[in-house]
Amino acid sequence: MPKIVFLWIKFFNRIFMEHQERNIIRDLLKSHKVDIDVLVKGWVRTKRGNKNVAFIALNDGSIIHNLQIVVDVPSFDEELLKKVTTGSCIAVHGKLVQSAGSGQPVEVIASSIEVYGTADPDIYPLQKKGHSLEFLREIAHLRPRTNTFGAVLRIRHALSFAIHKYFNDNGFYYLHTPIVTGSDAEGAGAMFRVTTLDMENLPKNEDGSVNYSEDFFGKSTNLTVSGQLEGELGALALGAIYTFGPTFRAENSNTPRHLAEFWMIEPEMAFYDIKDNMDLAEDFLKYLITYALEHCHHDLEFLCKMYDEELIERLKFVTENDFIRLTYTEGVEILMKSNHKFEFPVSWGIDLQSEHERYLVEKHFKKPVILTGYPKEIKAFYMKQNEDGKTVRAMDVLFPKIGEIIGGSQREEDFAKLEYRINELGIPMKDLWWYLDTRRFGSAPHSGFGLGFERLVLFVTGMGNIRDVIPFPRTPKNAEF
Ligand code: 4AD
Ligand code: MG
Repeated sequence: MPKIVFLWIKFFNRIFMEHQERNIIRDLLKSHKVDIDVLVKGWVRTKRGNKNVAFIALNDGSIIHNLQIVVDVPSFDEELLKKVTTGSCIAVHGKLVQSAGSGQPVEVIASSIEVYGTADPDIYPLQKKGHSLEFLREIAHLRPRTNTFGAVLRIRHALSFAIHKYFNDNGFYYLHTPIVTGSDAEGAGAMFRVTTLDMENLPKNEDGSVNYSEDFFGKSTNLTVSGQLEGELGALALGAIYTFGPTFRAENSNTPRHLAEFWMIEPEMAFYDIKDNMDLAEDFLKYLITYALEHCHHDLEFLCKMYDEELIERLKFVTENDFIRLTYTEGVEILMKSNHKFEFPVSWGIDLQSEHERYLVEKHFKKPVILTGYPKEIKAFYMKQNEDGKTVRAMDVLFPKIGEIIGGSQREEDFAKLEYRINELGIPMKDLWWYLDTRRFGSAPHSGFGLGFERLVLFVTGMGNIRDVIPFPRTPKNAEF
């Protein structure tokens, strides 16, 4: 085509594109209307074809599926088409038609293409398909452009939304608890220090210790390990609250289930006992999984096909069956009677390892399990003490492939018993005066739990490693992106 005609077409198309509204690929793939003008924008997954016709697979992140763009090669500028390579970002104006091929319901016959950003095939890291998940972790800044991470991130979003919806629909208030905390009493894990002191030149007390009164907050502060203690303050005023925020644990745990920065959901309810707490946890988990099954089926089908063919069955199974409830003592008896060889031997009083939890869930009951009545020595100071003097009203929800997904308890509401336990454990009382005030003034029976958000996403997506269900994982020696 003569250059001048081509430039005119390009000019008019540009004006047209600027005035037409962009169509979302998710909507077009569902659309029953064809033979309409559309404008789509997205990233090229592949381009194939010959000197007459080219097929571009375009993805805009709105859905796992690509939209096929059909290009009549001779009527396009050769230089422009050369720039359309895997990873490049383009806008396409054209006609939506019923697809001639069998792979897709509709496709777009391109009338014009604009290239927003090229992606040099010699250096674009996602040029080829089928990279390992380990490799993709090294390019966490680009991995959202893969099918796998697109699916995981959309499911992660849907679950976040469902969490807020569940609590809002059930009369809970969202409470924002602090990220920087002056108390390290919860004891849920090692903490990250927050400071503005000059590390090279620390102010010192006479005895040589660091003088934190010169620090930003006038005291030593850390990143929170849990919003629970503040959550309890909220529950004893608003009735039922939940938190949903980042929490931080500086443990050197290099496992497929631990992160140093993870998101936790912590509901806390006045007037709930341990049974109410278990009922809520079970109902909540079933609601979230059902929500994902109903709203994320394209992404779940993809993950099922690529990674875990039992995924959807497993999710349905959890929503359709009652969780098994038993005490820690009963659980330990089952483990001891089993002839299974565990890496860590079992006896009453041990903190259960993931291998023990998974044996109960996957081998023995073949259902999710809620264990209660743990020895007080292995649980936190605030848990309600049972009459036996040995156990507390703790509850852990154990899931297939995951182990512990929820940890919670009924809280000790009795001031004297709580104070006694705090002293017994040698926890500095001065750090907890504000927490103890809830038991001093208008104390009430109450309960709550914490759901590890990434463990939930791990379960729902069927992925094998927690580093692959959060956009930017924080683990020991890893905070690049
Ligand atoms: O059992 P945890 O330590 O309980 C608490 O923090 C309580 N304050 C919760 C409460 O009663 N409000 O943690 C709760 C959940 C665990 O069951 C697990 O799912 C998740 O948080 N979790 C982690 N997830 C990823 N990485 C880690 N390092 C985690 N540690 C705990
Ligand atoms: Mg726990």
